[in-house]
Amino acid sequence: MKIGVIGGGQLGRMLSLAGTPLGMNFAFLDPAPDACAAALGEHIRADYGDQDHLRQLADEVDLVTFEFESVPAETVAFLSQFVPVYPCAESLRIARDRWFEKSMFKELGIPTPAFADVQSQADLDAAVASIGLPGVLKTRTLGYDGKGQKVLRSAEDVAGAFAELGSVPCILEGFVSFTGEVSLVAVRGRDGETRFYPLVHNTHESGILRLSVASSNHPLQALAEDYAGRVMQKLDYVGVLAFEFFEVDGGLKANEIAPRVHNSGHWTIEGAECSQFENHLRAVAGLPLGSTAKVGESAMLNFIGEVPPVDKVVAIADCHLHHYGKAFKDGRKVGHATIRSADLPTLKARIADVEALIAKA
Ligand SMILES: Nc1ncnc2c1ncn2[C@@H]1O[C@H](COP(=O)(O)OP(=O)(O)O)[C@@H](O)[C@H]1O
Ligand SMILES: [Mg+2]
Repeated sequence: MKIGVIGGGQLGRMLSLAGTPLGMNFAFLDPAPDACAAALGEHIRADYGDQDHLRQLADEVDLVTFEFESVPAETVAFLSQFVPVYPCAESLRIARDRWFEKSMFKELGIPTPAFADVQSQADLDAAVASIGLPGVLKTRTLGYDGKGQKVLRSAEDVAGAFAELGSVPCILEGFVSFTGEVSLVAVRGRDGETRFYPLVHNTHESGILRLSVASSNHPLQALAEDYAGRVMQKLDYVGVLAFEFFEVDGGLKANEIAPRVHNSGHWTIEGAECSQFENHLRAVAGLPLGSTAKVGESAMLNFIGEVPPVDKVVAIADCHLHHYGKAFKDGRKVGHATIRSADLPTLKARIADVEALIAKA
């Protein structure tokens, strides 16, 4: 079976690493000459709106999936004429736009931060008057790793903020004083079967995910699964879906969903019986889903900007390096490590050992 992937970054690369043993081949459509998934499949180097190359991709593959959600809706609609596309066009339309996404949460009775649509500075002033400060102004589309957003704490922050984000459609959200951030990686098959990985506790640095630690028997697991289940059913979702939540007052507020494999699920490569990458491929290919059970304790630490010396990383017991083969650059995710152990104190000690390598790098 040949899988077409829109986007050729590290997520595509890890999809190929998971799918190749299942007998799958891959073609990645990505305009970047140095797309790092190209090492693991065919690289169709073209823009996402290039219909000739989209048609070529559709002709070559059995189905198309995505490694990022900011794909133009027309691209998805065009491909869907020729080849099955998972997750479906509607899932991408909702997940790529923070206004549609939060409106869907509200409709499904899933708690969110207060939010308002902002199409102008006047809208922003009105939204601040009703939601209050502090707040977070975010572009509706194309934001990632904390880009395309601004925390507003004072009237001075509000003045001109709409122009600062590029005068594009935005939403204002109330600032959430969360006790923690957790995410749920879920998978739904073509037949509607759903499975969930354990909730993961996430720590961000400058808006970028740094550390994910998989939980055991998290008290909010059932609630998170209920919320994710509602979304997947509503969208008739097929594939892996990641759901980011804020933990507040012993409950959850929905932050965002990602209609794809997710950075907070990378630990599953070595830390779960079947990884998020393999489960995504099983789901879109119509294969039975794999077990989402955790194997011992597990965490994922991102390497941002550069990967520490390989010999030092792999010298740490049960520490598994994933080097994406990308050029090193400040603020760019260039690799991660999955860190495992039989118990939590050992896991924490090993995480500290890897963190010490980053501090020195
Ligand atoms: N409403 C909010 N209140 C408090 N912190 C927020 C809020 N929205 C986002 N953040 C912080 O910024 C991070 C990135 O925001 P997010 O909406 O998840 O965008 P991205 O698409 O960049 O991941 C979140 O993980 C959280 O730490
Ligand atoms: Mg996020």
